[in-house]
Amino acid sequence: MPLQPDSLTTHSLFHEDCLETSKRLPDSSIDLIYADPPFFTGRIYSMNGCSFDDKWTNATEYIDWLKPRLNEFKRILRPTGSIYIHCDWHLSHYIKVLSDSIFGMNNFVNEIIWKRQSAHNDSKQGSKHFGRIHDTILVYAGSQRYVWNQQYTPYDEAYVEKTYKYVEAKTERKYAVGDLTAPGGASKGNAHYDFLGVERYWRYSEVKMRELFKKGRIEHATGKVPLLKRYLDEMHGKPVQDIWGNINLEFAKKGRYPTQKPEALLERIIATSSNHCQIVYEPFAGSSTAGIVCHKLLRRWIGSEISKEACKFTIERFNKTGFEIQLIPHQENNRNIELTKV
Ligand SMILES: C[S@@+](CC[C@H](N)C(=O)[O-])C[C@H]1O[C@@H](n2cnc3c(N)ncnc32)[C@H](O)[C@@H]1O
Repeated sequence: MPLQPDSLTTHSLFHEDCLETSKRLPDSSIDLIYADPPFFTGRIYSMNGCSFDDKWTNATEYIDWLKPRLNEFKRILRPTGSIYIHCDWHLSHYIKVLSDSIFGMNNFVNEIIWKRQSAHNDSKQGSKHFGRIHDTILVYAGSQRYVWNQQYTPYDEAYVEKTYKYVEAKTERKYAVGDLTAPGGASKGNAHYDFLGVERYWRYSEVKMRELFKKGRIEHATGKVPLLKRYLDEMHGKPVQDIWGNINLEFAKKGRYPTQKPEALLERIIATSSNHCQIVYEPFAGSSTAGIVCHKLLRRWIGSEISKEACKFTIERFNKTGFEIQLIPHQENNRNIELTKV
């Protein structure tokens, strides 16, 4: 089936090796790559009529296989883009060294520890190691200009009670108070002046401090150091850190693909590192969880999947949700993929 130039305005799943798809994509054309390759587990995964083989002779064979694919991902990634490489304890350290050499150590953003289970205990079967309950996700940027939409989680109740313990009498708004004095004093170039009868090095200029005071943002009791008021209802929540445990696991869901990842995990990745209408590439698509989430979050999506059953699984998954998708069989003629601007 010939590929129409405007065909990639919808979701497109390429049934082929992601090396082939990547080679046909233009340089610097992808905004976000979520790569969830086989992990070198030595297992054959089989579930719900789908299977894939994760058996390798040794780590060198695996790394030699991954390297040309990561090289292509680097070529197609925009300077404003990011790549998330999902792996686990088996080879995350080898993959980090390889990825540093391809994407550049300077572009390394995070090692995310995703706690995918609360406990895993094989000790009754004789295991002699701590429970292996996390995956590792390595994040690299295309350059220092990468897209970043900070994500937040709700504060926990104990923190709110401890920190936002004041209530404004007039408005009944909960607030916390914070220091207005400047750490580092003169050495950091902070201004020194008298504010409301208190002489200190202050965090803000005198003009800004007066403005804050006028807006009722400064708490002041005679003889005490003025403090900044932070209202709870204006806070986004807790900025997301690099250990992710509060993801809905969905593992109990019936009829899932082997190693299928939770939509909530992909929601966080896609919302953080891409904007509306940008192009997300999922090279080891499996059941195309990133594809489903892209539909919900209004991103364009390209997937590659080598297994025919997995492609069929994805089509059925999209059909169930009523989302549109087109399956593109392997193109022997190596036709280049054109991406339309939106
Ligand atoms: C860990 S699973 C991905 C699971 C996926 N993230 C999900 O949520 O369903 C890895 C997938 O990569 C596929 N795969 C392996 N080698 C591939 C290749 N060279 N090109 C494209 N897909 C490949 C496997 O068939 C398998 O479906």
